[in-house]
Amino acid sequence: MREFKGKVAVITGAASGIGRAIADRCVKEGMKVVLADIEEGALLRTERELKEMGAATLSVMTDISKEADIRLLAQKTIQTFGAVHLLFNNAGVDAGTGRLLWENTVADWQWVINVNIWGILFATEFFVPIMLKQKTPCHIVNTASIAGLLSGPGNGIYSASKHAVLSLSETLYQELRLIGSNVGVSVVCPGFVRTQIMDAERNRPTELRGSGNLPPERQVITELARKAVQNGIHPEDVAHQIFEGIRKGQLYIITEPKFKPAIKQHMENVLNESNPTASQMQLVRNLL
Ligand SMILES: NC(=O)c1ccc[n+]([C@@H]2O[C@H](COP(=O)([O-])OP(=O)(O)OC[C@H]3O[C@@H](n4cnc5c(N)ncnc54)[C@H](O)[C@@H]3O)[C@@H](O)[C@H]2O)c1
Repeated sequence: MREFKGKVAVITGAASGIGRAIADRCVKEGMKVVLADIEEGALLRTERELKEMGAATLSVMTDISKEADIRLLAQKTIQTFGAVHLLFNNAGVDAGTGRLLWENTVADWQWVINVNIWGILFATEFFVPIMLKQKTPCHIVNTASIAGLLSGPGNGIYSASKHAVLSLSETLYQELRLIGSNVGVSVVCPGFVRTQIMDAERNRPTELRGSGNLPPERQVITELARKAVQNGIHPEDVAHQIFEGIRKGQLYIITEPKFKPAIKQHMENVLNESNPTASQMQLVRNLL
């Protein structure tokens, strides 16, 4: 997809961080934007600010972990703008950072999997058929993470969910190419970006309440991650790289080259059937 002016973009998690930067960029490209988010106040503020920029917008309160919400999002998009050309499956959450795998609760797993995986699956279910019927160039961008390419201690649930996002994006890309469709797919793998991701708990449903405060000996990993996010790249840089990737029809968008040696080492370990060494495990931690 190379032409954006006048086209329609749907963005989940549009009210903060990377999603907000994508929305701003879509407006600058002259697109109509559908803003979907679970946080009502931030969503309405985002819509107001984009309207002030002269954008044609629709905001839809959406919990992407609910099939009915995504069905409604697709329906409202078509009712309002008549089409969808760019879908950003961006919303995502993180839980239990710092905890070792066996220290997480079932609720921690359910919340992250419901949002990070089911959210994308529901959007695939409802938006892909619409895009296929349109027969015009379209593109889907799924947000994974460097954690979808590397596994590190204290980040097990999030990492497993993002590995799934990577895999389902690779499959979707292949299937849409094999049937000769006009729908492209990218999977974006950011490293650390200055957003509110470390405060994702603000959106956790009460029925999936967390497992309480981290024990002090686990807080070091959370603190490292929080610092890395605070010192991360700007969301606008991620949005810019995503648009470059869409224009080039790139499947993989890795926003920070500094992670590539660790990814290469990981791939080599798999091919050589080698176990990660102590220094490699340390390297993953040092990247935080
Ligand atoms: N910030 C980083 O360092 C980083 C790195 C790699 C990947 N990511 C990914 O980027 C994506 C965007 O996150 P961000 O960093 O901008 O964080 P953020 O918390 O600033 O923004 C996430 C947005 O998603 C919304 N959201 C949360 N749960 C939702 C739900 N159930 N339904 C609809 N909306 C929901 C939030 O309200 C928020 O507006 C996520 O998928 C995240 O995993 C972030």
